[in-house]
Amino acid sequence: MKVVDCPRARLYDVVAGAFATLGRQPAMIELGVHKGDNATRLMEVLGTRHAVLVDAWSAEALATYSHFDKLPPWILPLTAFERYFGGSLSDQATFDRTYEVARQRFEGRGDVEIIRDDTVPAFARIRDRHGDGAFDFIYVDANHQYEYVLRDLLYYQHLLAADGVMMLNDCCHSQKGMNQNLGVLEAVGNFMKRADFVPVALTSTDMSDLLIARRGSAMVGALDAALDATDISFVEVMPQMLAAAHIRVSPQGRARVSFA
Ligand SMILES: C[S@@+](CC[C@H](N)C(=O)[O-])C[C@H]1O[C@@H](n2cnc3c(N)ncnc32)[C@H](O)[C@@H]1O
Repeated sequence: MKVVDCPRARLYDVVAGAFATLGRQPAMIELGVHKGDNATRLMEVLGTRHAVLVDAWSAEALATYSHFDKLPPWILPLTAFERYFGGSLSDQATFDRTYEVARQRFEGRGDVEIIRDDTVPAFARIRDRHGDGAFDFIYVDANHQYEYVLRDLLYYQHLLAADGVMMLNDCCHSQKGMNQNLGVLEAVGNFMKRADFVPVALTSTDMSDLLIARRGSAMVGALDAALDATDISFVEVMPQMLAAAHIRVSPQGRARVSFA
C-alpha cells in the first residue's frame, strides 16, 4: 500500500492513467452524490462512458448517524453539518433542494443515470439493469457509519469488473472523523478480510481517500505504474498496516497519516 502525499483530486488523475494503460473507458457509480460536484469532476477526469449516481437525498437516511438516544460527547450533533448541507438536516426540504441542484446539473445527459434511493434498493436496480461486473470504478461516499459502509462494499463489489477499482472517501481515524462518527476505515478492514481486495493507495490527508482493487488484478499493477509515472511522493508500507492508520495533526495544523 502506498501512502501518497496528495489530495484526492490527484488520485483521480492516477486512476485515469491506470484506465488509459488498460485501454478502458470506465463506467462508474458514485454512492453519495450531494450536489454532484465530485461526480462532475470524476466524469471529466476519468472520461467516463456512463455514470450511475446514487443518493437518497432524504433526511431519513441520516437518522442512523448515532444509534444512541443520548449523543456521546465525542460525536458532534447533526446541526454542526447544516452549512455543508445548506439547511436543517431534519427538514426534508433541505435534501429536496440539493437533489434539484444535482438533477438540473445532469438533465438531458444520456450518459448519466440518477437513482434517488437508499444504496441497497439502488444496488438491486443497477444489477437488474446492468448486470454483475458492469462497472470499472465505484466511489463510496454515502452513509459513513461502519455497518452501512461495510454493507455498501459487500453489495457493490458484485457490480465491479474483475479489473475495477473502488475508492472510499473519509477513510481515516482522526479527531475530525471521530466527531462525525466515521466507521469507514474499520469497515474497509473488515471487508478486505471477507473479500479478496487489497489497499493500493491512501492519501496522507485528514478525511483520507483510499483506493482498493482485487488482489493480483491488472488494475493493481496499472495503478502502481500510474503512480510511479507521477511526481507524487509516497511511502510504501505493508497492506496490513492500514488498520493502524490514524491522522496526526502537527502543532502547525498539518495533518499526516501515522502508523505509530
Ligand atoms: C458526503 S455526501 C457525498 C458527497 C459527494 N460524494 C462529494 O464528494 O461531493 C454524502 C451523501 O450521501 C447520502 N446518503 C447518506 N446515506 C445514504 C444512503 N443510505 N443511501 C443513499 N444515499 C445516502 C446523503 O444524502 C449525502 O448527500
